[in-house]
Amino acid sequence: MRVDAVTLFPGMIDAPLSESIVGRARAEGFLELGFVNPRDFTEDRHRTVDDKPYGGGTGMVMMAEPVYRALKKVRKRGSCVVLLTPKGRKFDQAAAVELSKKKHLVFICGHYEGIDERVTPLADMQLSIGDYVLTGGEPAAVAVIDAVTRLIPGVLRKGDATVNETFEGGLLEAPHYTRPAVWRGKKVPEALLSGNHRLIAEWRRAQAEALTSRARPDLAAPKKRPSPAKAGRKPSPRKRGRFSGK
Ligand code: ADE
Repeated sequence: MRVDAVTLFPGMIDAPLSESIVGRARAEGFLELGFVNPRDFTEDRHRTVDDKPYGGGTGMVMMAEPVYRALKKVRKRGSCVVLLTPKGRKFDQAAAVELSKKKHLVFICGHYEGIDERVTPLADMQLSIGDYVLTGGEPAAVAVIDAVTRLIPGVLRKGDATVNETFEGGLLEAPHYTRPAVWRGKKVPEALLSGNHRLIAEWRRAQAEALTSRARPDLAAPKKRPSPAKAGRKPSPRKRGRFSGK
């Protein structure tokens, strides 16, 4: 997969994505990551990329033209252009899966107070990584590119498979343990030491359900058909959480 980032600060993306699994994916050619800097598309002596907001207010706004020219340099037919902004659709595992199927992604990273609004229609999609404001889109691009890269077939080695993991199937993942079997008096759950694969799978499923219910009741509940007697009745407030009662 080819990914390009339109950014004033390529090092903020390049450095974290040079390590570990994504670093290896780049070295092995699963991910080709490129950068294009709007500053290189300015014409004035100071290479100006930002200006004061019309209407007043604090901070600076990235000017449309250098961003437009930078994007034009890397965008091809079939590219998917993603603008990173706290105003975007909330990034989640489903969005990561969707993006992992594209051939070419281009991320536009705003900085300062954001980018001139007239750039927005150039993007196919706007993504936010959460309800908080970062100093720029770069850390968000890192999170999104990381989540997408590990879904590219071949990037994860055997045993790192993406089945049974958190959010696959709408559940948080069951807890993991490794040696020693007893650590500072704390034991690994019996089921995991049993060698019985069915028992282990059942234990993991039950743990995942209980954990999801406790920590993330907002995650979608499995589509269960209500019994005829209960159909149409609202669940009591205590039972509204997922897998309630566990
Ligand atoms: N830029 C600033 N904050 C952001 C966020 N939460 N998600 C994506 N891009 C951003």
